Amino acid sequence: MQSPVQDKSAAKSRPGTTGSAHGDATKYDFMVVSNRLPVDRCAPGDNGDDGSGWRRSPGGLVTALAPMMGKTDGAWVGWHGAPDETLEPFSHGGMDLVPVQLSDDEVELYYEGFSNATLWPLYHDVIAPPEFHRTWWDAYRKVNQRFADAVVRHADTNATVWVQDYQLQLVPRMLRKVRPDLRIGFFNHIPFPPPEIFAQLPWRQAIIDGLLGADLVGFQRASDAGNFMRSARRFLGASVKQQQVHVKDGDGEITHIARAQAFPISIDVQQISELAGRPDIIERARQIRQDLGNPKTILLGVDRLDYTKGIRHRLKAFEELLADGKLSVADATLIQVASPSRERVEQYRLLREEVEGTVGHINGTYDTLENTAVRYLHHSYPVEEMVALYLAADVMLVTALRDGMNLVAKEYVTARNNNDGALVLSEFAGAADQLKQALLMNPHDIDGLKSAIMTAVDMPAREASRRMKSMRKQILEHDVDHWSADFLQALNEKVIRDDT
Ligand code: G6P
Repeated sequence: MQSPVQDKSAAKSRPGTTGSAHGDATKYDFMVVSNRLPVDRCAPGDNGDDGSGWRRSPGGLVTALAPMMGKTDGAWVGWHGAPDETLEPFSHGGMDLVPVQLSDDEVELYYEGFSNATLWPLYHDVIAPPEFHRTWWDAYRKVNQRFADAVVRHADTNATVWVQDYQLQLVPRMLRKVRPDLRIGFFNHIPFPPPEIFAQLPWRQAIIDGLLGADLVGFQRASDAGNFMRSARRFLGASVKQQQVHVKDGDGEITHIARAQAFPISIDVQQISELAGRPDIIERARQIRQDLGNPKTILLGVDRLDYTKGIRHRLKAFEELLADGKLSVADATLIQVASPSRERVEQYRLLREEVEGTVGHINGTYDTLENTAVRYLHHSYPVEEMVALYLAADVMLVTALRDGMNLVAKEYVTARNNNDGALVLSEFAGAADQLKQALLMNPHDIDGLKSAIMTAVDMPAREASRRMKSMRKQILEHDVDHWSADFLQALNEKVIRDDT
C-alpha cells in the first residue's frame, strides 16, 4: 500500500501557474480517468458541503467506483472544472484525486468544440450537424495526451486503468505506447455510430486506433459494439472475430487483442429505492401534486437540455393531445425539468430558445387561471427532489432521439415502490434493450408517441403493475455495482485467442 496523495485537503496554486510536483511520486494500482473529476466545488452551507469546499458529484458512476478507490490503491484522474487553474492532487471522501489542468482555450476547443460540437452530434445520429475543425482536433489530441501523461506518472506496474467516455478516446493508445504493462479498459457512455456516419470524421482512423489501445472496449448496447467493430474492420483493416479485434503493428504482427462488448450501465438502486420509501419524500411528492391542483395525471420529463433528448417532439405530442381534446389542462399537467447544459455551445443555446418559445406558446394557448399545461423548470435538483418528482408522476416520458442509456428511465422505475405508474420510452435509448415492458415507441412518429402517451394515461392498474414489476425486477438485479464488477472482471480475464 502506497502513501496517500499528499494531505487530504485541496491545495490550490495560483491560477495560471503550474503546480509543484507534490504527490507526483504516489503510485496506484487502479485508476479511473474521466473528463470531469467526481467532485464539484461548493460554497459553505450548500447541499453536500462537508467543509472542504468540494462535494461528491451525483450519479451512479461515482457511487459505483468510489468504494473501489478506497478498497484498492485507487485514484481518479480528471479535470476539476475551473479553466486556467492548477490544483495539486488531493483527497476527498476517501478518494485520491489527480486534477488535470485545462486552459480557457482548451475548454473551448477540446471540450465545447471537439467533444461536444463534433463527436457528440456525430455519435448521436447527426441529429445536429457536427462541425469539423482542425484546431479543435489538435486541442483534443493535446488534452488527451495530458490525461494519459497523468496516468503514466501515477500508475503502478501492471495497474488497471479504466478510461471513461468519448472525450478521451485517444488515451488507451497513448497509454499502451509507453506502458504496455497496464491493463487498459475503456467505456463509451454514449452511442457509437454506424460506420456510414462515423465515416464523416476526418480523424476516424486515429480515433479507432486510439480505442484499440485498450484490452476491453465497453459499450452500452450490443449494436454500439457491432458498429465499432465494423468501423475497425473498414477503416483500419483490422481482423475481427466474434468480439475480438486483432490489433496489428506496422509490420502486420498482432500486438494484442482488444475485445468489444456491451455492458449496459445502471443506477444506484439502493439509494433511489431508499429515498422513495422515506416519509418526508413521500410527503414532498404529495405536496407537489397538491401544488399543481391535484390533476388526474401528472406527466414528467427530466433531461439535460440537449437536442438528443427529443424534448421538442414530446412538447409537440402533448400540445396536439391538448388541441385534439384528448387531454385537458384541468386533468393533465406536464412537468418538464430541463437541467442547464453546455450553455456556451451554439446548438444548445438555439435549443433553449426553441423549447422556451414552444412552452410559452403552449401555455399561452391552453393555460387557464387555475391550471398550467406545462410546468417548465430550467434547473438542476438534488436527488431527493428528483425522487419526489418520480413519485408524483403518473407517466414518465423518455422520448430521446438517440441516447446511450438514459438513466432517468431506470431511476423512475426504481422509485415506483408500489409498482404503479407508466413509462413511455424511446426505442432509441439504450434502456429500451432492458426495459422491454415500457411503452416503447419511435419519437419521430408523433402519432405513435401520442398514442403511447394516451395508453400510459389510460392504463388499467393491473397492467401497469404487471409491467412495472417486470421492469423493476430487471433493474433491481442489474444495478451499477454489477455493471462495474462485470466490466472489471471481463477486463482482467485472460483472453484466449480465437484464431479459427
Ligand atoms: C453524458 C456524457 C458524460 C457527460 C454528461 C454531462 O452523460 O456521457 O460524459 O459528463 O453527459 O455532460 P457535461 O458536458 O456536462 O459533462
